[in-house]
Amino acid sequence: MTYGYFDDAHREYVITDPRTPVKWVNYVGTLDFGGLVDHTGGILICRDDPGLNRITKYIPQLPAGDFRGGTLYLRFPEGGAYRVFSPFYVPTLDPLDRYECHVGMGYTRIISECRGIRTEATFFVPRGEDRLLTDVRVTNLRGEPLALDAIPVVEYTHFDALKQYTNADWVPQTMQSRAIRDGDHTVLAQCAFMKRGANENYFTASLPAASFETDRRPFLGANEYGTWARPLSLQEPALGNHEALRGDNIAALLLPLGELGPGESARFVTQLGQVASVGAALPDIRRYFDPAAADAALADLNATWRDYLDIFQVETPDASLNSMLNVFNPRQCHTTKNWSRYLSLYQLGLGSRGLGFRDSSQDVMGVLAHIPEEGKALLTKLLSVQKRDGSAMHQLYPLTMEGSMGDAGEMPDRPQYYSDDHLWAVLAACAYLKETGDFAFLEEEIPFYEKDGQDRPLESSSVLEHLRRAVAFTRENVGRHGLPLAGFADWNDTINLAAGAESLFTANLYGRALRDLIALFEVLGDAISAAALEADYAAMRERVNAHAWDGAWYVRYFDAAGEPIGSRQNEKGQLFTNGQSWPVISGFATPERAEQALDAVYAYLNTPSGIKLSTPGYDGYNPAYGGVSTYPPGAKENGGIFLHANPWVIIAETQLGHGDRAYQYYAQVNPAARNTEIDRFECEPYVYPQNILGDEHPQFGLARNSWLSGTASWMYQAATQYILGIQPTYAGLRIDPCIPAAWEGFTAARRFRGATYRITVRNPQGVSKGVAAVTVDGAPIKGNTLPIFADGTHTVEVTLGE
Ligand code: GLC
Repeated sequence: MTYGYFDDAHREYVITDPRTPVKWVNYVGTLDFGGLVDHTGGILICRDDPGLNRITKYIPQLPAGDFRGGTLYLRFPEGGAYRVFSPFYVPTLDPLDRYECHVGMGYTRIISECRGIRTEATFFVPRGEDRLLTDVRVTNLRGEPLALDAIPVVEYTHFDALKQYTNADWVPQTMQSRAIRDGDHTVLAQCAFMKRGANENYFTASLPAASFETDRRPFLGANEYGTWARPLSLQEPALGNHEALRGDNIAALLLPLGELGPGESARFVTQLGQVASVGAALPDIRRYFDPAAADAALADLNATWRDYLDIFQVETPDASLNSMLNVFNPRQCHTTKNWSRYLSLYQLGLGSRGLGFRDSSQDVMGVLAHIPEEGKALLTKLLSVQKRDGSAMHQLYPLTMEGSMGDAGEMPDRPQYYSDDHLWAVLAACAYLKETGDFAFLEEEIPFYEKDGQDRPLESSSVLEHLRRAVAFTRENVGRHGLPLAGFADWNDTINLAAGAESLFTANLYGRALRDLIALFEVLGDAISAAALEADYAAMRERVNAHAWDGAWYVRYFDAAGEPIGSRQNEKGQLFTNGQSWPVISGFATPERAEQALDAVYAYLNTPSGIKLSTPGYDGYNPAYGGVSTYPPGAKENGGIFLHANPWVIIAETQLGHGDRAYQYYAQVNPAARNTEIDRFECEPYVYPQNILGDEHPQFGLARNSWLSGTASWMYQAATQYILGIQPTYAGLRIDPCIPAAWEGFTAARRFRGATYRITVRNPQGVSKGVAAVTVDGAPIKGNTLPIFADGTHTVEVTLGE
């Protein structure tokens, strides 16, 4: 069973059946203004912060057929009443003769045909603007004329997204709407009372409205025994023109499209936006009363996405890999960079969340080739919630820049830091410098998180000092084996051990961070700092190898009593994927142990649906381990295929030169290659999900938590930098592929520091790794690091072999 197809030429996935197993969504706009549009026209929109400034009420837990956030109704007279239906399928569920949802780059276009009426609706947020446009064209496909009305509608939420669900008296008392007549047009304004003059929402259309409604109760009718599927008010000639003084606020406009002759179309553009004052913003709102303005805005958005994607394009023998690398994976990276883990159908953006420090640091790494300035801006925000001791706040709210300790805050008896957060910022900062060569960034002053009574930072320092303190924190917070203390958790949020436990993951992440910094100090000519960090690196490598080798693989933790977790001695949780990939990535594993550790992953953790995070799963709640044991075996971090960890194994395999295995691991989790197995997988085939149920679970292969996962950034890095081997370094772009031996080669076009490199890799001897010769613009070069050009297009020919 398939629900759609990839259209790479248009950079779209086209859904052709509205009854997908779960909602499939697309993102519009950015964190500044935007959100998600589902494939049946539901909209979840916010501005600056999904938790603190949310605009539409979209409840993901409602059944798929229910109204969520917005829809469009069409109606025409039939047998003395109105025949009403939604061209988006939801919420009226009228059978459609044709249905397509084009999931595009920053836009979604739904095309449907029902009862001889064709509707095409394109949702998008114009670049840099605080409004969602929906550009609608309705065409009469019948042989005779038809009089049509269009009724677009949205439902608002309280700006404090959690309050909406926790207080059903105060919230409705605050909600108010009013109608502003602007010439022929009606602009419906809405806000919570205390946001008047500060954050006012509005909804309007480019066509004059004959009537409107802002109160949900009369819209649905009969004290809400009318439903979204059959709103009783739509059987009346006009809507009630109520300006809601309280209650559940909506915005509905009745737009008479007039009588359309056979083949004739009507067009209108709706706007849903937020401004300080709707009255004052009318001149700007009016711009989109001319649909040509929407055409221009969409053309501009398309051009922006073309530029974003054109930075890196590849042509390999694998069409699914091409789809992901050329379109959907960098698109998903853009999404995670914006939304972190804050707002999706699974991560609901209510209450305590915000941007994750470790998550966003990794997300930055996924967009650096494309939008390095935006990556730097986010990294700068993250560094401003780093603490003076070098550790970091676990999360931050983008609107207020307030940090939180995440789940650790709920267990004050446990360590109040995560042992890995701060180290990811080192990787991200170094990746930014490798991409851009912008070493001046290291001198920029950024405050630490601690504030005085007047909310002024207690201390600021250069970016370089922030990075030094990050590694110093880990160096100084070690346990009985001299390995880093685990803190409340490391990357695996769900293993929460009593204070005193040590994390091998953090040891290896520290090793990798040190390698990046050592290379940086060498480039900066600071031999003293480089040597000091080399000594730290050697010390940690020695401890890891002295204590953590279990005979055939590395252990994952030592608990507070010094007992290993992730060892053959354990009954459950004997072997952990991250315990094996990371000693290779850090360079701590000896060559022989590296091979053995990765072989253990292949032998005991690999499945046809991806690599499991650990095995065997814990079978029953155990407070000594915490969250991991709340899941049944095979789910999420408890022996599930936690996809984020898969690219790390791919990277490790390429470091050992295992191109076939690295590619096998890549291909087996490529969602684009799952398009025909969706009944098992269920989630969107055009993005990576966070988790897939593992083979200990009866529903093995079922995916969840699509879109917002560190998988996006790391898969993109694994494929582009390690399989295709096009790696930014401080000194230039290095070409070091590790591909399946059967590939005859591939081509890639990559922009880097102002120049375009057109790279052709040939593999005449059928090897996986090893660069035999490189020419640039026809002339051979020494080594495999390409010279830095400030501009122009340069032809690079790479021959693999002995
Ligand atoms: C979730 C969290 C991430 C964590 C991972 C593993 O994806 O957002 O921070 O590393 O789970 O527990």
